[in-house]
Amino acid sequence: MAKELGVGIIGCGNISTTYFSLSPLFRGLKVLACADLNRSAAELRAEEYGVKAQSIEELLQNDEIDVVVNLTIPAAHFSVSKAILEAGKHVYSEKPLVLTLEEGEELRRLATEKNLAVGCAPDTFMGGSHQLARKYIDEGGVGRITSGTCHVMSPGMEMWHPNPGFFFLAGGGPILDLGPYYIANLINLIGPVKRVGALTSMANPTRTVTSQPLNGQTIPVETPTNIHALLEFVNGATITLSASWDVWSHRHANMELYGTEGSIYVPDPNFFGGVVEASGRNKDIKPLENWDHPFGIANQESPQGPRANYRTAGLADMAIALTEGRDARCSLARSLHGIDVMTSILKSGEEGRFIELTTTCTQPAALGIEEAQALLR
Ligand SMILES: NC(=O)c1ccc[n+]([C@@H]2O[C@H](COP(=O)([O-])OP(=O)(O)OC[C@H]3O[C@@H](n4cnc5c(N)ncnc54)[C@H](O)[C@@H]3O)[C@@H](O)[C@H]2O)c1
Repeated sequence: MAKELGVGIIGCGNISTTYFSLSPLFRGLKVLACADLNRSAAELRAEEYGVKAQSIEELLQNDEIDVVVNLTIPAAHFSVSKAILEAGKHVYSEKPLVLTLEEGEELRRLATEKNLAVGCAPDTFMGGSHQLARKYIDEGGVGRITSGTCHVMSPGMEMWHPNPGFFFLAGGGPILDLGPYYIANLINLIGPVKRVGALTSMANPTRTVTSQPLNGQTIPVETPTNIHALLEFVNGATITLSASWDVWSHRHANMELYGTEGSIYVPDPNFFGGVVEASGRNKDIKPLENWDHPFGIANQESPQGPRANYRTAGLADMAIALTEGRDARCSLARSLHGIDVMTSILKSGEEGRFIELTTTCTQPAALGIEEAQALLR
């Protein structure tokens, strides 16, 4: 039995309930304490989930804690992760890891110096559907992937998130907020990216919140909300990625990948499940035969029906990888490459030229049924 790591959570907002409620599914982890700039937010979660509320300082000095999960807002990710490493603890961050490549390189330097691990969400590419797509591609089901399209487009976030301001500041925007799911899954399915180009814009310089409790408040938009990017992969594949919060409706699929022998239709990489379809040269598009992957089994109700949600799987994989001395799937190298892709897309939009990436990474190990089962209690 692998050693269990003591986990602390910094940032007790919206997404923290997912980590508190799903982490008990996994082996190798025990959430012990939480902290937040807003002490009452930490106290609320501590009471809900039976953990200890601490100040940030106390949590960083808590000897029982081996890994700290950073669930703060994107603008705080770098400073909070840096403080965690400086306190001698491993980091697992919500996406995006950092807002610039330089910040990411500093975390890499610090982690290497202190022999600590840094991991980062998203882990949805470990879902049953995305791993089924990975298996089909690896087995040559559609030949060599040569091109594809990805679309993540909606009217925005200010109609559902209780505090949506950060989505429209530097570090937010659809590319840094939702891009990570797409980039992580493209790295899972195709491998690393070589260069990118993009056109970026914003429909409006301000937005009006329509969710509660800030209904009616005007918030500034300081980052592009409409991005059309082209990605050239190291394997030669060329992919179009459209990410927008300026679109009321559309008819594009989340992810279509075209290979030398056929096409594969991958469901929304923001989720663990969904139907994977594929066709061969005969153009007959059919669902792939489902497999009993543990991370594809619906375990939650959602407004769209039953849903598979295994967020925290990446943290569990990192905890077990640390004790087994193997590569974690949501590794620093892959997250940093994702940051390079996304920040280069924004830079290309500003400068009007293609940007060659300076980082690279390997594809994560595939996660079959047995490997996924081994992460669960
Ligand atoms: N909400 C979601 O559905 C969702 C889904 C996936 C990923 N995420 C990611 O998770 C992160 C958090 O999102 P959220 O929706 O929970 O945001 P949120 O605003 O609801 O919560 C963030 C919390 O972090 C705290 N905080 C901010 N700066 C801090 C600091 N320096 N030190 C300690 N605490 C600090 C805030 O007080 C707040 O309680 C973001 O990076 C977001 O992209 C959110």
